[in-house]
Amino acid sequence: RKEKTEAKVLSQSLLAEGIYDLWLETDLAKDAHPGQFVGVYPTNKSTLLPRPISICEIDRDRSAIRLVYRVVGSGTAEFALYQPGDYMMILGILGNGFPLDKAAGKRVVVMGGGIGVPPLLQTAKELSGKCDDTAENVTAASVTAVMGYRNQETFLSEDFEKYSDLVIATEDGSVGTKGNVIDAMREQNVTCDVIFACGPMPMLRAIKAYADEKKIKAYISLEERMACGVGACLGCICKTKEIDHHSYVHNTRICTDGPVFDADDIEF
Ligand code: FES
Repeated sequence: RKEKTEAKVLSQSLLAEGIYDLWLETDLAKDAHPGQFVGVYPTNKSTLLPRPISICEIDRDRSAIRLVYRVVGSGTAEFALYQPGDYMMILGILGNGFPLDKAAGKRVVVMGGGIGVPPLLQTAKELSGKCDDTAENVTAASVTAVMGYRNQETFLSEDFEKYSDLVIATEDGSVGTKGNVIDAMREQNVTCDVIFACGPMPMLRAIKAYADEKKIKAYISLEERMACGVGACLGCICKTKEIDHHSYVHNTRICTDGPVFDADDIEF
């Protein structure tokens, strides 16, 4: 189900430099799944395209979704001005989301880098078994969150601690391991059977290589490559090894066919 609808702002706050935490009331919440996203429309009519923003947390009982986003341009700068009681136009629910069933009963690591951190929160929550309004009953044997940040602004880390063991990497070494999420995995001897990840392309490439090396499955969200999020701009094309009878390399739109892919199927 995909629908353009008004959503009411319940709250908005600044979480870290340039990063905002927004709760919206919408009936779409009950259909939302971790790793999916919504398109948010700026009111400025110079652009008709929505901005894709991943869903950070879902409260199905309250019919609410939480969006944690970075201000990167005029559209997102406008979103940051919204106050409780205001209405925003959103399109959702979009994207496929993480295949949580692949981690049921297994040791799972959720990995996020930068603005790729937020979608892993609902993922960790549902896998932890501590989410009582989930549609699926998918509990992992263990959940470890390995999160990468630039500096000591480790936004959402307190939320992750509720649902997972938390390991932090920072670029400047101010908190946790100095380096990236893979450096933190190695330094802390974190082992797992499945990885769910979202973050910048170099990080996802490193995770794919790590998963190959360790012979574990990785499902990665290429969300950062998206622009319009609705199949209109073609800015998100990537190459996949399509599972058809010719095994051709195919061009895939991340926003409509993903944003989550099996790392084995992506060429990048
Ligand atoms: Fe625009 Fe996919 S993000 S077509």
